Amino acid sequence: MQPSISDVQEYLSLEPLATRIHTHQHYSDVPDDVEAAVLQALSMAPEAELLDIGCGTGSFLRNLSGSGHRGRLVGLDASPAAVDALSGTPGVSAQLGDAMDLPFEADSFDVVTARHMLYHVPDVGQALAEARRVLKTDGVFAAVVNHPDVTPRVSALVVDVVSQAGVEIPVVPNSRVHSGNLPAMIESTFGSVEVHRYDNALVIDRPEPVIAFAVAQLSFYGVEPESGLRPELTRAIDRRVRDWFTSSNEPWRDPKGYVVCTARRSSR
Ligand SMILES: C[S@@+](CC[C@H](N)C(=O)[O-])C[C@H]1O[C@@H](n2cnc3c(N)ncnc32)[C@H](O)[C@@H]1O
Repeated sequence: MQPSISDVQEYLSLEPLATRIHTHQHYSDVPDDVEAAVLQALSMAPEAELLDIGCGTGSFLRNLSGSGHRGRLVGLDASPAAVDALSGTPGVSAQLGDAMDLPFEADSFDVVTARHMLYHVPDVGQALAEARRVLKTDGVFAAVVNHPDVTPRVSALVVDVVSQAGVEIPVVPNSRVHSGNLPAMIESTFGSVEVHRYDNALVIDRPEPVIAFAVAQLSFYGVEPESGLRPELTRAIDRRVRDWFTSSNEPWRDPKGYVVCTARRSSR
């Protein structure tokens, strides 16, 4: 099974992803640092060989390399933009590829991570089996996924605006895999799982970041990056969010959270 075209298209430009990351980093009720949460769950040796599946903007590997990690660091992503984003990063190599068919030998890595990416994989069981295959014995896998009902107010706004424009809303990636079902899937592949839960909320006191965050989600709701509807939908989101702030005396508050799941590959 290939990654779905629309899921890959969403990441041909990394701008919407960077906007979503920026929003979480700057407008969370309590500081939200997914990379730190993953590193804490892994407690990895500085010479560990690590594969980051769905490496996105590349910041996780860039930060590891910059902080003196000595082991081999490899990024893999289905989007050429993500591979390009890591080019020239010392100590890091990046490769185009599919989480369901990893282009690596068995027993290659001490650590494999899949942060906020399993939503886009049509066969999550196959991706987990692949992650396990490329891990060495005693190697550790870490995956991050959101709660199923993450930022429900922004989601409801985008669904409303998009459906009023007559767009058919597809199965939203976050509904395929989330904190409610991933732990059992990992346990079934690895034999055990540890779950670290983080609950939080977006708290935003002015319209612009809410508008940017909502617009950066349009692709998940069936509006392709090149769709001619984007200007009209962006205007509708802008108007609705500004109206809400005009009539409200409180910040925009939207619950969110995720789990970091880890599992060790015991001997085969
Ligand atoms: C939500 S972004 C997360 C990026 C990064 N891991 C982070 O947490 O910031 C999902 C990433 O997974 C990549 N992706 C989607 N489907 C994939 C697949 N089948 N195999 C590998 N990467 C994939 C996308 O191109 C994108 O870079």
